[in-house]
Amino acid sequence: MSENIKLEIRSLLKKHNAVLLAHNYMRDEVQEIADITGDSLALSIEASKTDADVIVFCGVHFMAESAAILSPEKKVLLPRLDAGCPMADMVTAAELELLKAKHPGVPVVTYVNSSAEVKAHSDICCTSANALKVAQSLKENELIFVPDRNLGRWIENAVPDKKFIFWEGFCPTHERMTVESVMQKKSEQPDALFVCHPESAPEVSALADYVCSTSGMYDYCRNSPASKFIIGTEAGILYKLRLENPGKEFFLASSALFCPNMKLTSLEDILLSLETLAPVVTVPEDIRLKAKAALDKMLAIPRD
Ligand code: 13P
Ligand code: SF4
Repeated sequence: MSENIKLEIRSLLKKHNAVLLAHNYMRDEVQEIADITGDSLALSIEASKTDADVIVFCGVHFMAESAAILSPEKKVLLPRLDAGCPMADMVTAAELELLKAKHPGVPVVTYVNSSAEVKAHSDICCTSANALKVAQSLKENELIFVPDRNLGRWIENAVPDKKFIFWEGFCPTHERMTVESVMQKKSEQPDALFVCHPESAPEVSALADYVCSTSGMYDYCRNSPASKFIIGTEAGILYKLRLENPGKEFFLASSALFCPNMKLTSLEDILLSLETLAPVVTVPEDIRLKAKAALDKMLAIPRD
């Protein structure tokens, strides 16, 4: 049954000259049929340079919006329109404007986990993979960072010469990972390294051997001589970690690390989306142009 669906999806992708992009947190079977899997930065770059006519975005709403901002000539499909990001919903453009008014002239760095409208009111975007470089690229010694307080505090520690003004947004999935659950896993697996995402609470990140984006975790675990890893991010990352490292063992740091939104999209949803060429994600042109300027500034920063 699922093999048939996969064949139908592949054939419709070909028919529509479509590319299927999937975030590293998607269900295993969705990652398996994707053309490209990656972290938020890699998927934004792919969306900006693909020559496909249609982008099928298997992720959450803000990611599809970024694709629509960067590639307005393409049709961007989000198979589940209800796949949102609670962190992105924690700040509005009006709230950001009020914060900016209190700190005139201070540049705004906005995590890509945000709406197009919030991006449009920002100076530069960042992802967890390049937030440090983005902060370092600013000449000002003060910056407003929205919406993720945890990513913001992690970067602030690494850039002590800059003062950060935070927004108190957070990822409910990562904040469900507690110090107790990590310590429990560490006692069960004393030889394992603990790798976690910077969206985690500061007291959890403080326990980590390495803190990085989802793609950073692939690189770190691949290159590390260690053979056991406790993973502190959404469970979907385990699929490719195990596939790429058959000789290594991976343990989820907490059983609560499931993002309900990232788990919504099924193969059936992708098939229906390709059959109907819907739902389409678009961004009003005035917002798109301003949001694109903030994303383009981020994309202009060289990667390692
Ligand atoms: P990255 O894959 O960019 O690390 O993002 C994590 C995340 O929470 C996306 O919603
Ligand atoms: Fe949003 Fe967290 Fe889910 Fe990522 S994992 S989509 S930040 S709620």
